[in-house]
Amino acid sequence: MDAVELLLTRYSALKLGEPAPSAQAVQAMLESAARAPDHGRLQPWRLILIEGEARLGFGEVLAEALSRRNPLANEQALAREREKALRAPLIIVVATRCDRSAKIPIIEQTISAGCAAHSIMLAASAQGLGAMWRTGEPAYDNAVKTALGIEPDDLIVGFIYVGTDIGGPVTRPERAPREFAQHWTADSAKPSGS
Ligand SMILES: Cc1cc2nc3c(=O)[nH]c(=O)nc-3n(C[C@H](O)[C@H](O)[C@H](O)COP(=O)(O)O)c2cc1C
Repeated sequence: MDAVELLLTRYSALKLGEPAPSAQAVQAMLESAARAPDHGRLQPWRLILIEGEARLGFGEVLAEALSRRNPLANEQALAREREKALRAPLIIVVATRCDRSAKIPIIEQTISAGCAAHSIMLAASAQGLGAMWRTGEPAYDNAVKTALGIEPDDLIVGFIYVGTDIGGPVTRPERAPREFAQHWTADSAKPSGS
């Protein structure tokens, strides 16, 4: 598929299943992340892959974190939380790994990590895989970060769920570039009426 066509047609897969991505497909996703725009070449991201049996352990981490956030969470809610880890054969956790001693602002390093996440999404689509970028409360939960070995100062940018798309595309409202893109001229910044 042509690159522009990929950009214009990509979508997030709401339902993912087996088969899991091949080792070769995963490698291409990781290498795509490595090509993310990166001011200062700091590589300010980190990827943690969770697949197979490890997802069960991650489900426990999610459930324990939920019961800490909400001690009143019932068994049903905890089971739903565990299930999140089984939404796809592979979860790629994208986190920042910011260098606070570097002169590159943290926001730029964080954006780089976001670009790495999007590159993974695109590389998944390009290879005929389904992927969905999620965050939710677990992404902001310190216990989850600790269990994944992420430094307290860093952020989880997203959980990228990857597998075989078993739901198909969902119709989304069209977004017209004119709603968010304008040409600038020296006159356009002047308040109206002046
Ligand atoms: C940083 C980030 C976090 C997101 N977190 C969630 C999430 O937790 N749950 C969710 O349903 N969608 C989440 N989304 C949105 C989906 O990934 C997706 O972009 C959205 O459903 C639109 O679908 P599309 O990508 O097919 O246009 C998130 C997107 C971003 C960029």
